[in-house]
Amino acid sequence: MGGAMLSRIAAAMTLQLVVMVSGGAAAAASSCPATPPDTGATLQVSHAFGPCSPLGTSATAPSWAGFLADQSSRDASRLLYLDSLAVRGRAYAPIASGRQLLQTPTYVVRARLGTPPQPLLLAVDTSNDAAWIPCAGCTGCPTSASPFNPSASSSFRAVPCGSPLCTQAPNPTPCSATGKAACGFSLTYADSSLQAALSQDALAVATDVVKGYTFGCLQRATGTAAPPQGLLGLGRGPLSFLAQTKDTYHSTFSYCLPSFKSLNFSGTLRLGRAGQPQRIKTTPLLANPHRSSLYYVNMTGVRVGKTVVPIPPSALAFDPATGAGTVLDSGTMFTRLVAPAYAAVRDEVRRRVRGAPVSSLGGFDTCFNVTVKWPVVTLLFDGAQVTLPEENVVIRSTYGSTSCLAMAAAPDGVNTVLNVIASMQQQNHRVLFDVPNGRVGFARERCTAA
Ligand SMILES: *[C@@H]1O[C@H](CO)[C@@H](O)[C@H](O)[C@H]1NC(C)=O
Ligand SMILES: *[C@@H]1O[C@H](CO)[C@@H](O)[C@H](O)[C@H]1NC(C)=O
Ligand SMILES: *[C@@H]1O[C@H](CO)[C@@H](O)[C@H](O)[C@H]1NC(C)=O
Repeated sequence: MGGAMLSRIAAAMTLQLVVMVSGGAAAAASSCPATPPDTGATLQVSHAFGPCSPLGTSATAPSWAGFLADQSSRDASRLLYLDSLAVRGRAYAPIASGRQLLQTPTYVVRARLGTPPQPLLLAVDTSNDAAWIPCAGCTGCPTSASPFNPSASSSFRAVPCGSPLCTQAPNPTPCSATGKAACGFSLTYADSSLQAALSQDALAVATDVVKGYTFGCLQRATGTAAPPQGLLGLGRGPLSFLAQTKDTYHSTFSYCLPSFKSLNFSGTLRLGRAGQPQRIKTTPLLANPHRSSLYYVNMTGVRVGKTVVPIPPSALAFDPATGAGTVLDSGTMFTRLVAPAYAAVRDEVRRRVRGAPVSSLGGFDTCFNVTVKWPVVTLLFDGAQVTLPEENVVIRSTYGSTSCLAMAAAPDGVNTVLNVIASMQQQNHRVLFDVPNGRVGFARERCTAA
């Protein structure tokens, strides 16, 4: 990446993850603890929809069923997006596709951009190589956001349209003869569109600074509202944050995602090799050349209680040509399995929870209105088994005894091929993404207080 050099202050840094739960949370309440600073190697991570979300934009908390329905439809569009990536493949671009841009993130971290540094929130997205940031003067961007102001930064640089970097942007605007005009580009999806300028500036994350970080400075958004924060693309494709910082972080990071119910800023994103767990169960990463940003793993089965449920091998098989297989994703909230795989898991769960009537709620089809004993669910990967604690399998209403299996099949009427292991099933684990060694690791780590 031209100019993308990382001035290295710490060998590894940990970003405290801030969890965001969309729609469900009231604005950060006064009972929310102050965000601890990102010390030396530590970056705080927040959940976007949690009670202490730094976005804190939603004033009204919907009912529990309403919250689930919102999340479920948000996940459905995320799944369509991931599936479309997996099937078609796309040109690499330092900006998300329209569909992705129009989604709300699940987790955010704090960063600072420019000189002097301006604070901003970035969504943590493991399935994206994009980097985009709402910029001052953007028409159609959310008014609640405090956008980045390029003219207040002495280190800001517009990438000229004659630069080779500009040819990698989607739909670049025609370039002047001198090639010195700014590289503008656009994205459209359905009735929505975005215009941005390819730009570079110093990005500070915890105590490190990435000089000449390349991103899309959002200038115009029409149609569906763009989310109010930027995007930190942690995909493994060539223009992602990982690629831009690979000399320092060696395409290695881990996170512990806190539960959206958590009031604490207790999740962390740790960049680089240092401080990563040494004793950790790992499974090989699979590479799909048609979709280089996605973290494919080889899920070979699912166990419910002591039973390995009967899933047809084709529902789990990795196929780079069709995009089929299993990915880990930080931007989907509840795990989605292709229909035959989900049916097998669900049927065994229901069989074990005998005697209670099953109901549906907010997009989830295996809910119980009475207290029941849930079976243990274990995800079987090539070389690693991950037994999920009950809090990663069951969603419970805040009041009352209703609980639901926190997984679903592919959206209705869509024949998707991807299994997506989502954030709720990853929470309270240290999940290690070790690209140079081609592996993903899981270790239980309680990063959510209660
Ligand atoms: C946050 O976590 C700390 C330590 O685990 C705990 O003492 C405190 O009560 C928690 N605060 C909230 C608001 O959950
Ligand atoms: C369970 O409770 C939900 C929400 O109150 C309701 O819609 C559903 O009909 C109930 N199901 C059963 C089986 O009682
Ligand atoms: C997935 O794991 C199974 C069991 O170890 C193995 O037979 C299969 O070849 C693996 N698939 C890929 C694509 O690596």
